[in-house]
Amino acid sequence: LTKGMENFQVTMGHIEGVPLPVTTCDMWDTIYNFQARKDDILIATYPKAGTTWMQEIVDLILQEGDVQKSMRAPCYIKVPFIDLVPPKPMPPGVALAQTMNSPRILKTHLPINLLPPSFWEKNTKVVYVARNAKDSMVSYYYFHKMNKFLPDSGTLDNFFSEFLSGDVPWGSWFDNVLGWWKALDKHQILFIFYEDMIQDPMREIKKVMTFLGKDLSDEVLEKIKYHTSFQAMKENPMTNNSTVPKTIMDQTISPFIRKGTVGDWKTHFSVAQNIIFDEEYKKKMEGSGLNFRTEL
Ligand code: A3P
Repeated sequence: LTKGMENFQVTMGHIEGVPLPVTTCDMWDTIYNFQARKDDILIATYPKAGTTWMQEIVDLILQEGDVQKSMRAPCYIKVPFIDLVPPKPMPPGVALAQTMNSPRILKTHLPINLLPPSFWEKNTKVVYVARNAKDSMVSYYYFHKMNKFLPDSGTLDNFFSEFLSGDVPWGSWFDNVLGWWKALDKHQILFIFYEDMIQDPMREIKKVMTFLGKDLSDEVLEKIKYHTSFQAMKENPMTNNSTVPKTIMDQTISPFIRKGTVGDWKTHFSVAQNIIFDEEYKKKMEGSGLNFRTEL
């Protein structure tokens, strides 16, 4: 990359009040009119919920545990991120998706009300991964620091307020998880918790397998579990984003596959922040029937 191209930082625009990169807003009509296919598998998440982890699991299930095949391309090429228009020369997610053979695995961080309607028309299967808000926030904070495409997150205290008010890229964690949660009985959605994946990855991998209508042997499932473990994905150049130029993702600031635990927020939140957080959380989540674990 030549000098002068180092500043990739994007500003945020808004679509129906949701902060999204201006590059996404500028292409919004194309993105919203994206044509899903009935055999697509959509992985939907709020950022930092374990999207990449689920992508690898779904891909390896479709490839029936063939690790060689799963390493055919980096995760951001294999699984187009339909609501992302990355810095050039990388193609917009929707353009990448159009060139792919079925069955495609696609990724989105959109709140459910902004999802391109063709996903509903085609009755596409959706795997939604949810992660507790506190760990999501800490993970997103570090991701902002290392990802030069996103605005600088400032101090943790600053990011804390922005996150709680939903003034961060892709908007409010609360709106995202609640929106998808409330749609469970209306669509083909498998709702998976990051904390459950950490606690018992095999159990969760089997849930995904069943949802996708596959039946794999225990031997293949063990292989999938091994290759999607934190350590294996941290070392795998196709999953750890080490192929992304340092000018866009500077992993010396914070690695993309960073910590992978439940409860990292405890070493980051002050007592005062935790009280503010819990109050706000209660207001927004009470009565939703959606319960997260913030420690195991
Ligand atoms: P941390 O920053 O807390 O470590 P996403 O893919 O949605 O951006 O999510 C990234 C988060 O998932 C990061 O969280 C990352 O470390 C974690 N992660 C990625 N692969 C994982 C794996 N195989 N096991 C556990 N956590 C994983």
